[in-house]
Amino acid sequence: MRVLQHLHPAIIHFPIVLFLLTATARIFSKTIPAALIQLGLLLSIATGFLAIGTGLLAASPLIWSAAPPVLRWHIAFAVSWWLMACYLYFDFDRDTLPSLLLWLAATLAVLGASTLGGTMVHGFPL
Ligand code: HEM
Repeated sequence: MRVLQHLHPAIIHFPIVLFLLTATARIFSKTIPAALIQLGLLLSIATGFLAIGTGLLAASPLIWSAAPPVLRWHIAFAVSWWLMACYLYFDFDRDTLPSLLLWLAATLAVLGASTLGGTMVHGFPL
């Protein structure tokens, strides 16, 4: 059980790096094939699902009303990033301003979740 509770830090780097690379390619590159970007997004969603599962294990027993605010915000950012990433995967072909803004919002959400996660483990960054 202790091993399961420590899986979260081992998993989380995959969705973070995959999503940030994918978003950078999606927002700034016209030459990287869309299929490759979509594959990266799919892998970040799949490993993000594992990150959410292992996060729930790391936080268990999780009682929302008793959880510290930093953990609640961490979960809120993480889950909203994951939902936005899923939406972007199924809405991938759209090259519109709202779609671009959603890529940016999802990028901020994953950065927010990661910063708050790091804050819980290592203290406030500043
Ligand atoms: C329901 C979802 C989640 C819960 C309940 C959760 C819970 C936690 C908890 C309790 C910690 C601190 C203790 C530990 O690492 O063992 C943590 C750390 C962290 N989490 Fe999450 N998490 C969730 C989702 C995510 C997601 C989706 C990501 C990234 C995509 C993420 C990124 C991080 C990071 C970067 C840390 C700091 C790890 C370290 O520096 O060692 N978390 N999370």
